[in-house]
Amino acid sequence: MRKTIIAGNWKMNKTNKEAVEMLTELKELVKGVDSVGIVIGAPFTALSDAVKAVEGSNVKIAAENVYPKDSGAYTGEVSPVMLKDLGVEYVILGHSERREYFKESDEFINEKVKAVLAHGMTPILCIGEKLEDREAGRTDEVNKTQIRGGFAGLTGEEAKKIVVAYEPVWAIGTGKTATPEIAQETHKAIRQELTEMFGEEVANEITIQYGGSMKPNNAKELLAQADIDGGLIGGASLKATDFYDIIKAAL
Ligand code: PGA
Repeated sequence: MRKTIIAGNWKMNKTNKEAVEMLTELKELVKGVDSVGIVIGAPFTALSDAVKAVEGSNVKIAAENVYPKDSGAYTGEVSPVMLKDLGVEYVILGHSERREYFKESDEFINEKVKAVLAHGMTPILCIGEKLEDREAGRTDEVNKTQIRGGFAGLTGEEAKKIVVAYEPVWAIGTGKTATPEIAQETHKAIRQELTEMFGEEVANEITIQYGGSMKPNNAKELLAQADIDGGLIGGASLKATDFYDIIKAAL
């Protein structure tokens, strides 16, 4: 059966020193936790030291982006080969901030998904509707398009390796969480779409995280829903104790 994964997304936060301090504290707190996957997404500059800081522990490190080529004339970009070489195991892809500020398309995100899989790392593919989509009754349509786009051209075996993070854009960093019922309903529709693409067996193995103002005080209710298999946590992943409280809610 699918795994519950609690992942942090630090975004553009933390110097190297701050990253190592947080991870050193976190790995002590989560010692012995084995029923939940624990991942921290750190900025590129902190990845090397982050991987070293959690070595031998149950905390895994994610990058927050990648360029879908192995090497070449792409000034300022970072390749999957470089991430793999550092010991990075997950890559957050298609976050709504990247879709919005950097104009990333489903097609480009799909190239990244394939590049990350090709190098034996796990994509965390973010999808989610904006407020105006939800208000216009387009939630399922938007998520379906992003799922179809992100998973395009993959086999069932490849699809199983992807973690989906459903993050309603209106809930990110706003303190507004989807109610557990609304989140569950949307997660179910996403799994239904995956079922149509890859069949029930594959769809049932795909971890679908919820993201958007998940906090220690609302995590338990969200994580109790049948189709919510973990969380992608921004603000509340910056402090080890807050993040650990969310992990405890998943145990
Ligand atoms: P938030 O961010 O928890 O601060 O709302 C979630 C995310 O953007 O991944």
